[in-house]
Amino acid sequence: MPTIKINDVELSVNPGTLVLDACRTVGIDIPHYCYHPALTPVATCRMCLVDIKGQPKLATSCTTTVPPAPKDNPEAVVMEVYTNTPAVADARAGVMEFLLINHPLDCPICDQAGECKLQDYSYSYGSGDSRMGEVKRRYRYEDLGAKIVIDKNRCIHCTRCVRFTREISGGGELTVASRGSHLEVTTFTGKSMDQNPYAGNVVDLCPVGALTSRDFRFKKRVWYLKSAPSISRHSALGNPIWIDHEANQIHRFRPRPLEGKETTHFISDEERYAYKRYNREGQAPAPLLLGTAAPLEAIREALQAAGVAAVIGQGTFGCDAAQRLGDLASSPDLRYGSGDKTIPVLLPKYQTSADGILNRRGFSERSFRFGALEELLGKVQRGEVKAVVLLHDAAFTSEKETELLGQILKAAAFSLALEVEPSALGQAATAWLPITSFAEESDFIINHDGELRRYQKALQAPKGVRSVPAWVKDLAAVLATA
Ligand code: SF4
Ligand code: FES
Repeated sequence: MPTIKINDVELSVNPGTLVLDACRTVGIDIPHYCYHPALTPVATCRMCLVDIKGQPKLATSCTTTVPPAPKDNPEAVVMEVYTNTPAVADARAGVMEFLLINHPLDCPICDQAGECKLQDYSYSYGSGDSRMGEVKRRYRYEDLGAKIVIDKNRCIHCTRCVRFTREISGGGELTVASRGSHLEVTTFTGKSMDQNPYAGNVVDLCPVGALTSRDFRFKKRVWYLKSAPSISRHSALGNPIWIDHEANQIHRFRPRPLEGKETTHFISDEERYAYKRYNREGQAPAPLLLGTAAPLEAIREALQAAGVAAVIGQGTFGCDAAQRLGDLASSPDLRYGSGDKTIPVLLPKYQTSADGILNRRGFSERSFRFGALEELLGKVQRGEVKAVVLLHDAAFTSEKETELLGQILKAAAFSLALEVEPSALGQAATAWLPITSFAEESDFIINHDGELRRYQKALQAPKGVRSVPAWVKDLAAVLATA
């Protein structure tokens, strides 16, 4: 491995490593706008300039790579980089001055305030004054369809959004038009971002407040939000996300890129806007037995009295929930898996499976058998299984599977449904228990690629609503064995 020096600190890195990334490994964050690890480098913003010994001009660290070591001297220092020279400081201040020439000082009403790279870098590297004596260029804000709003006054022309629509989502809706101070990012005539199922990512990519989300715009100041690391239940792979929340309400889902994992940078709009269904409204539902509120003891006694029990676990819940739910089955072969949602593969690089049941693998590893519900129906009809416990979320079950589950519940002497909110299927069960949503608990999944992904509790569950392991702990001790 070649050795390089960064501000006189020696380190060994793989040849071909970007200088910007090498600096990061020694804790030096190089300011940048146009660079993004998932996009082709274009080196247009010039914010990442560094001094490289022996080079006559400053170099862009987002496109300069570490050369290989000479064969006869593998230990040789191949590059000496300086990020703290007066020339670098001057260059950064100059770039900031250019970028701010036309940028409005509207931070108090800008959605990006608090997470804006222009604000941060202006504070760290810019000047407190402006020499701009001319009138600033002005545009009115425009809708790029129903989901995205653009304020071109704030755009710094980094082209991240344009490259995203060309290189990642593929629709190429965005383009750069005109030249010089008239340069503007816009859509091709007649195109909007509405047909792009990944459109929301351009808002995350925009380092300033030029591209904003219609859904989030003007709703919440970001410094009031707390962020919990979680995963997207509405993706095939359980994409890592941040749950941004405040006062026990979720305000947005954002991608949570994992270091060195390019495929975790983007989420689909379906995943992004799914946060709405995890905000509770009204009173929390209470345990029910035969349609009326009942204490847990009554449900436990009814389950105990019923006899041999089978469980059906939908593979969209966590592994802890699966493990505990499995304890309710009278024997390991009475654990059945459910859930049949599929997610079309639009970007094969970012979604390696069309299976929308993201923890199918985690449930299978805990002896839940998928595709065997017909077998369970037969056992229930023959009286070999008397009780059925169902862990269910209606959003991941097709009409056909719902019908089959309905038949199983109807044929069982006793049935218990565990759901976040009562569905029509849950209401058909003999008993019903309210469980925490994934945003109200900590657990983990094993995705289709075999990766373990954890998620953490973001919201406080209402009183009386408990996790699956908590309910099962009180129900399990009393069950019959097959
Ligand atoms: S709109 Fe944002 S992401 Fe697009 S070029 Fe302008 S600053 Fe960059
Ligand atoms: S980040 Fe390197 S030139 Fe823009």
